[in-house]
Amino acid sequence: MDNFTVDFMTLKDLNSIFPILSTDFDDFWNYNTLKSELDKPDSFVLVAKEDSKIVGFADIWKAVDIMHLMDIVVAKDYRQKHIGSLLMKKVINLCTEKNIYELTLEVRQNNIPAINLYKKFGFKEIGIRKNYYGANNNAIIMTLYIDKNFKEELLSEKN
Ligand SMILES: CC(C)(COP(=O)(O)OP(=O)(O)OC[C@H]1O[C@@H](n2cnc3c(N)ncnc32)[C@H](O)[C@@H]1OP(=O)(O)O)[C@@H](O)C(=O)NCCC(=O)NCCS
Repeated sequence: MDNFTVDFMTLKDLNSIFPILSTDFDDFWNYNTLKSELDKPDSFVLVAKEDSKIVGFADIWKAVDIMHLMDIVVAKDYRQKHIGSLLMKKVINLCTEKNIYELTLEVRQNNIPAINLYKKFGFKEIGIRKNYYGANNNAIIMTLYIDKNFKEELLSEKN
């Protein structure tokens, strides 16, 4: 993972992936939604790069003492290379930097890659939101209670 870096997304970063956002990543969020996230004081968008090429991003939103993972996505050609894990480590780091120890999210119940990523980091299924993504398309609510003393162990264990 030496040549991969994670930093806060800039508008320049976002503009550079605008033409490929829906084709190379996924179509959950569009350009305008992401752009508005960059402007919100309680939202944080992290971007993973291989050298200068953007290969993934994660968006989290701080709601008082809880962080919500709004989206995490890796470019299709770069999946299963541990970039999602790298982003997740940085998301967890950011939570602890902000003294937040609860990270929660919704995920489609059939999104096995994402659910496995979350389970790898210790997220637990805490509930279901029925028809959250439309008819017969439920969301699983998953939450990670970050152990204040677990951080270093977590970071050294995950690749
Ligand atoms: C979910 C996603 C971000 C994972 O990113 P990634 O870089 O491929 O993930 P990693 O390589 O770090 O894999 C982490 C773990 O996820 C699981 N995983 C990843 N891809 C998987 C797949 N295709 N099938 C099953 N499990 C998978 C594995 O358990 C893996 O752990 P391991 O490598 O130790 O075995 C990526 O698949 C993606 O962008 N999906 C589309 C967007 C999306 O659905 N985001 C979630 C919104 S809630």
